[in-house]
Amino acid sequence: MIVRAITVFLLLLWPTASLAHGSSSHHPIPPWQDASPWPDRIVVTLPETPQSSFAVTWRTDASVTETVAEIALATDDARFDLSAKTISAATEPLSLAMVKYEGKSFPVPANAKLEDAHFHSVVFRGLEADTRYAYRVQGKRGAWSEWFHMRTAAEEGPITFLYVGDAQNGVLSHWSRVVRAAFSTRPDADFFLHAGDLVNRASRDFEWAEWFKAVGFIHGMMPAIPVAGNHEYARLGVGEEQTDRILSVLWRPQFTLPTDETLPADLQEVVYKIPYSKDLDIFVLSTQNSNLKAQAAWLDRALAKSTARWRILSMHHPIFSSGRNRDSADRRKVLLPIIKKYNVDLVLQGHDHTYARGATGQTPERVGVAENVGQVDTMFVNSVSGPKQYTFKDDGWDGYTGDGVELIRKAENTPFFQIIEIDGNTLSYEARTATGQLYDRFEMMKGERGVKAVIQGPQSTMDERLFETTAPYTDANDLK
Ligand SMILES: [Fe+2]
Repeated sequence: MIVRAITVFLLLLWPTASLAHGSSSHHPIPPWQDASPWPDRIVVTLPETPQSSFAVTWRTDASVTETVAEIALATDDARFDLSAKTISAATEPLSLAMVKYEGKSFPVPANAKLEDAHFHSVVFRGLEADTRYAYRVQGKRGAWSEWFHMRTAAEEGPITFLYVGDAQNGVLSHWSRVVRAAFSTRPDADFFLHAGDLVNRASRDFEWAEWFKAVGFIHGMMPAIPVAGNHEYARLGVGEEQTDRILSVLWRPQFTLPTDETLPADLQEVVYKIPYSKDLDIFVLSTQNSNLKAQAAWLDRALAKSTARWRILSMHHPIFSSGRNRDSADRRKVLLPIIKKYNVDLVLQGHDHTYARGATGQTPERVGVAENVGQVDTMFVNSVSGPKQYTFKDDGWDGYTGDGVELIRKAENTPFFQIIEIDGNTLSYEARTATGQLYDRFEMMKGERGVKAVIQGPQSTMDERLFETTAPYTDANDLK
């Protein structure tokens, strides 16, 4: 009965909701959302071996049924493109307004006015490691993108990457300045990891249009490692029979991500490993997906096989929550033992709309030495890059002391981006604010037998940022 009442209520809201989608005649589809014969939403990803390949995915309207991409060595010659090779693209039509799920079609009200889109992709293979290539992608015949530079991974050696937590709200209006600040600070970063909740409503095309406009050309040059968050999963329509929360219908068409035949179909392209180099393996989970046991078993196997010097895990829901009244005990119970078993170096997370960094092991605070040196097993980070901000847990991470974790730095009311650098046995980490100020940092050094020493700082000079010490805040849920 209650369910029925809620359904009726939602149905009453439906027409109003669809007016707010930017897809009705009152709010025309903005030109940067509308698909055309020209390529857009161009994104590089790493579905195979990053030292010898990379993928590019792009979108056009449905008039483009087959097309190509070109690749050449990026040289200093004016006409580097004369040696370009042409590669045929795979084309995947995507119906946005009506989506097929388990043999039935369901309307997606937010996309009601949208035509089908076509997503195209290529995987460039047989490339040289640590080499800069130029590529371009085509829509309709002759409708080419610009040439983008993209450097393949080195077999080994220094790596820099960027990481952000939830974008989710105000993706174009507010998040764009953060992602662009990250890019401006390290334009030569090797890749950019987005730890889930890239948008607020999984299958709403308008929000992905905002995401791609915010990142602009960045992901044409810098590979994206997208992690699926809870907001990447949603019901397709309102008041319809389709009640399961399913992965955004745009996810797989618009990101060409690693597949693994040992995983069930619903975990393909959301649970994966990026074998970046001999120095780094990245593992990605999809913690909204209820099939956590299968993910845990996969992670156990993948970590057992990993020989990389550094192992970094990313997932959306944090092992140790930092938002008030939030916890993820079931996930912690399943995943923390594996993280401990393999001594995973760093866990990059989102979801709690606060900043939190802490570690298991003998953290600097526990050791209490003057130089702030400690020994850690695993460093955990929860971060946020969008404008939606939550209150920090009243007791910090005290509720988790039984798990041996200690909170080292926290913040509220502040979007961040993070820069992580790996150079041999040293991993250095910085969290910076939207204006580029250093808020948090550490260096982790691996010694004999994998023992990790951590040096805090030199610490940021910024005071702890909390709601009571920063400017006023109001709910960011409805930002456009
Ligand atoms: Fe979330």
